[in-house]
Amino acid sequence: MIPWKEIDRAEVPGNEGEVILLVRDREFSIRTAGTELMNSRIHGSEDALAELSCSRLNPQVPWQILVGGLGMGYTLAATLEQSGPDAEIFVSELIPAVVRWNREHLGHLAGNPLADPRVRVEEEDVVKTIGKEKSVWNAILLDVDNGPAGLTRKSNDRLYGKSGLKKSFDALKPGGILAVWSCGIDEVFTRRLKLAGFKTKVLSVRARKSGKGSKHTIWLGIKP
Ligand SMILES: C[S@@+](CC[C@H](N)C(=O)[O-])C[C@H]1O[C@@H](n2cnc3c(N)ncnc32)[C@H](O)[C@@H]1O
Repeated sequence: MIPWKEIDRAEVPGNEGEVILLVRDREFSIRTAGTELMNSRIHGSEDALAELSCSRLNPQVPWQILVGGLGMGYTLAATLEQSGPDAEIFVSELIPAVVRWNREHLGHLAGNPLADPRVRVEEEDVVKTIGKEKSVWNAILLDVDNGPAGLTRKSNDRLYGKSGLKKSFDALKPGGILAVWSCGIDEVFTRRLKLAGFKTKVLSVRARKSGKGSKHTIWLGIKP
């Protein structure tokens, strides 16, 4: 068994621990607090987050899509694949080192999505990005934790509570979609999405593109 080798580590802003980038042969891993946030070999459900959302958007209009966070760029790459030439894809990534890692070590994994002219990346908390403007996004694709509870940082809980969901609702255009990735089911979160006014779908998606592996959950909250 080839041992993991640390490439770099960085602090999570707000003094909320650190993230570590590791490599083993051609496999990469981003970890925080002893838990794997992302592994380069398994990204079927991260791709599905974009595919399931974009397939429900109106193809006649150019899309403005917010992706939070960057990770290894798979959700971003899948969003680009689904989007037309006039789309604008905005990425909010909390940890500056993750953006740098994508430029220096990880870009090739998902086909260098940061180099696409439709992409703008900001080193910013996605909570802040969502709160900036109303009725601007066709879709907000959230994969910042392992589910609707702060893992990367405790303060991410703000995204999944009543007021956080209201902010996402307000930031979406009518017909817009809030998509949330999770490693498991959470009935309370489903109810919360409905209470926030979203028409809600809960989808079970395989971790691997091959249709194998564990099952992950994706919520699609559609703003009527
Ligand atoms: C599980 S990874 C995302 C994986 C990504 N979907 C992919 O396809 O590779 C989570 C990412 O969200 C970032 N993140 C965590 N909290 C965030 C926040 N509040 N705002 C923006 N990015 C955040 C982490 O630094 C990490 O890069």
